[in-house]
Amino acid sequence: MIDKIKELIAEADAFKAETKEEVEAFRIQYLGKKGLLNQYFAEFKNVANEQKKEFGQAVNALKKAAEEKVNALKEELESKEEVKGVYGDLSRPGEPVNLGARHPISIVKNQIIDIFSNIGFNVSEGPEIEDDWHNFTALNLPEYHPARDMQDTFFIQTNPDVLLRTHTSSVQVRYMEKNQPPIRTISPGRVYRNEAISARSHCFFHQIEGLYIDKEVSFADLKQTLQYFTTQLFGKSKIRLRPSYFPFTEPSAEIDVYWGLETESDYRITKGTGWLEIGGCGMVDPNVLENCNIDSKEYSGFAFGVGIDRIAMLLHQINDIRLLSENDVRFLEQFKSAL
Ligand code: DAH
Repeated sequence: MIDKIKELIAEADAFKAETKEEVEAFRIQYLGKKGLLNQYFAEFKNVANEQKKEFGQAVNALKKAAEEKVNALKEELESKEEVKGVYGDLSRPGEPVNLGARHPISIVKNQIIDIFSNIGFNVSEGPEIEDDWHNFTALNLPEYHPARDMQDTFFIQTNPDVLLRTHTSSVQVRYMEKNQPPIRTISPGRVYRNEAISARSHCFFHQIEGLYIDKEVSFADLKQTLQYFTTQLFGKSKIRLRPSYFPFTEPSAEIDVYWGLETESDYRITKGTGWLEIGGCGMVDPNVLENCNIDSKEYSGFAFGVGIDRIAMLLHQINDIRLLSENDVRFLEQFKSAL
């Protein structure tokens, strides 16, 4: 009987299977309730005492061989199935690829970049974590200048020299420090202000800064450039430059676009005036040029800054600025066609 068991062990070791069913049949034959092993275990009591030890060892070896075989075959078949799952039927038509949508801020930012690159502006960027010099001092806003309060600043912990930039005008400074005129650059980016969050304002938003420095640049050049920009972006070319104050420009102005009052929503957008403010601008203050090692006697230039979020909200009828940073797919998916 022991020889028979040894034969069965050899058979189990040599057993091969192609399907799960074959493995299961093998398992039942050896390890099932009425299987070979249980038959041998039942036989145990009839075995002569002096053979019990050898018999027991042989039956245990058979059990081990059968169990190991079942496990090994199962694993082998499963991994074959996995491979099949990965590659599938290679002749099947492809799965549709679900394309994402660009974020409305990116869409509008890219539109603005396109408009300005058509008239020779390049794109420059600067860090969101800034130092006092680039965000304030070089822009003609020395310490204790009251205009610093125009923008509530987030400082990084205890160091008053490290802050989250409050505007992209800081990139003007960085660009002028590294490049000599002629300069034509726009600088898109995220900015931060310590403001209460509501449907109309957020503690972070996006701006595009523009800078043009060359010989004999005039206010007329500024106006013409802005007019071109608003016509391209909104299809509305009537603009108004309303006198204002910024420490880094002199003279300074607020940029208004004539939006019109044709519909109910025009009334809301322009608060009944027909005019919509989109940003600030002016002739770069000679102090700023000098701070950046540009000779203010030889060169002059203009700068402007516009808010991207506001423009995106206008162009895509978004009524709450918070939607732009909440990452709700139901909102984002609506921009699939607007690439
Ligand atoms: N930095 C200003 C702000 O964030 C916007 C601005 C105004 C930028 C006038 C300019 C400028 O370049 O000339 O409110």
